[in-house]
Amino acid sequence: MDEWWKRSAVYQVYPRSFKDSNGDGIGDIQGIIQKLDYLQELGIDVIWLSPVYDSPNDDNGYDIRNYQRIMDDFGTMEDFEELIEQLHNRGLKLMMDLVINHTSDEHKWFTTSPEYYIWRDEPNNWRSFFSGSAWEFDELREQYFLHLFSKKQPDLNWQNPEMRKAVYEMMRWWLDKGVDGFRMDVINLISKDPEFPDGPDGDGSVYFMNGPKIHDYLQEMNSEVLSKYDIVTVGEMPGATVTDAIQYTGKERREVNMIFTFEHMGLDQASGEKWDLKPLQLTDLKYNLEHWQNALHNKGWNSLYWNNHDQPRVVSRFGNDMEYRVESAKMLAACLHFMQGTPYIYQGEEIGMTNVRFEGIDEYQDIETRNMYAEKSLQGVPHEKIMESIYVKGRDNARTPMQWSSEANGGFTTGTPWIAVNPNYSVINTTDKDEDNSIYQFYKKLIGLRKTMAIITQGDFTLLHREDEKVFAYTREIRDEKLTVYCNFSSDNHTFEMPEGELLVHNYESPKNTEKLVLRPYETIVFYKKF
Ligand code: NOJ
Repeated sequence: MDEWWKRSAVYQVYPRSFKDSNGDGIGDIQGIIQKLDYLQELGIDVIWLSPVYDSPNDDNGYDIRNYQRIMDDFGTMEDFEELIEQLHNRGLKLMMDLVINHTSDEHKWFTTSPEYYIWRDEPNNWRSFFSGSAWEFDELREQYFLHLFSKKQPDLNWQNPEMRKAVYEMMRWWLDKGVDGFRMDVINLISKDPEFPDGPDGDGSVYFMNGPKIHDYLQEMNSEVLSKYDIVTVGEMPGATVTDAIQYTGKERREVNMIFTFEHMGLDQASGEKWDLKPLQLTDLKYNLEHWQNALHNKGWNSLYWNNHDQPRVVSRFGNDMEYRVESAKMLAACLHFMQGTPYIYQGEEIGMTNVRFEGIDEYQDIETRNMYAEKSLQGVPHEKIMESIYVKGRDNARTPMQWSSEANGGFTTGTPWIAVNPNYSVINTTDKDEDNSIYQFYKKLIGLRKTMAIITQGDFTLLHREDEKVFAYTREIRDEKLTVYCNFSSDNHTFEMPEGELLVHNYESPKNTEKLVLRPYETIVFYKKF
């Protein structure tokens, strides 16, 4: 099968925050349909839609109550079918979010088929990702069930073949409806060590990440479902190393097409806990991405991302969201989009949306953030200190509504938004998208180049100026072609020898100098040479 997904760019829509069509303050499917011109014009190929399934919304839809029904907040199955049809008419594809490590505790299986879940008489010491124990006592059954996420998200028991069959059937149902692929939520957590040993300090991850039967399950899923369709699959895989990634994505292994690594997202944390902040050292990022680029070259496939609904906004995180917001948003885009892999753009990234700072914890909606706040407050951590880590790492940074215009609520809704809009919407919004120097146009150019330049999808990767702590530079090479990419991650000037070739992409009007390459704050410049 043609590996079209290697040339594609994916755009993630977080439906709750994208566009509200009916004034109830919540984004919906009709809202997405209204914005298809905007997405098509950007040049993306695939939309990854975060969960739209029926859900009590404990974790914004990642707790599914019914896999074959659309959440009332988002519309109806007819709306969904209209969305697929309209996407396909435009030559665009739809990737569904597939959450099958766990369901909602309100899913009917939890009562009708308890053997689909994981029960123990005694809990072990594993902690949930959302604070507290990963086990909850069930009064009726008088046993504990495992929930790696919230207690309303019980983990499915993948050792049960009947459960697996039911999941595969549901997947085929969506594929037969016309969806073009799956983004699989924490899919490398589905196989747990059957002994359930205690983990160090309550961290059970070695016993449930990339567990003993994970490859068997993915290969079974592939032969039962995935291989029968021409689709794209990406597995979200916390704790997967490059060695794991080669196994998960190697073509001959028939598992998934690519995975989301978390390694580069953990470089600005001081310990195993994401709230434990540490400034990013650029060389850590460079060496990590170099490692993934080189290790997977010809052996697997990378996904490329800075942002999603769980991560803070990259322009605030690795760029400069004040004086150099536009420059750094473009620089970060170029840095990522000239690498090998399939790029993912998260809604609002293409207009340089930033993190948000709400005053009080009550304005935050995310369960992970709220649980962490409650736990740390009890432990006596001062409010200001907790808020500081929420400002830097909280998931609601990504979840404030899409800023369409400078109208009330950024044009997202005519009602009261379910989460406040970032107050900078009057300045940062999509209304400048047609201007030559907009961030949107810059993304559009990068996406377009990937389609026409095989070197971007196929070339070798070499890191330049390895030790430089401020500048990320690399080349891509294939036969008689070479791309040289320079990215200044700082607000100082840096001077280098002028690379060979003609200027291909640039985020400043013109080069500062023609003899030497002088990089200005957050400047990116890309040269192309044909020998
Ligand atoms: C990963 C998802 O991206 C995140 O939003 C969710 O909370 C957890 N998995 C649990 O489903």
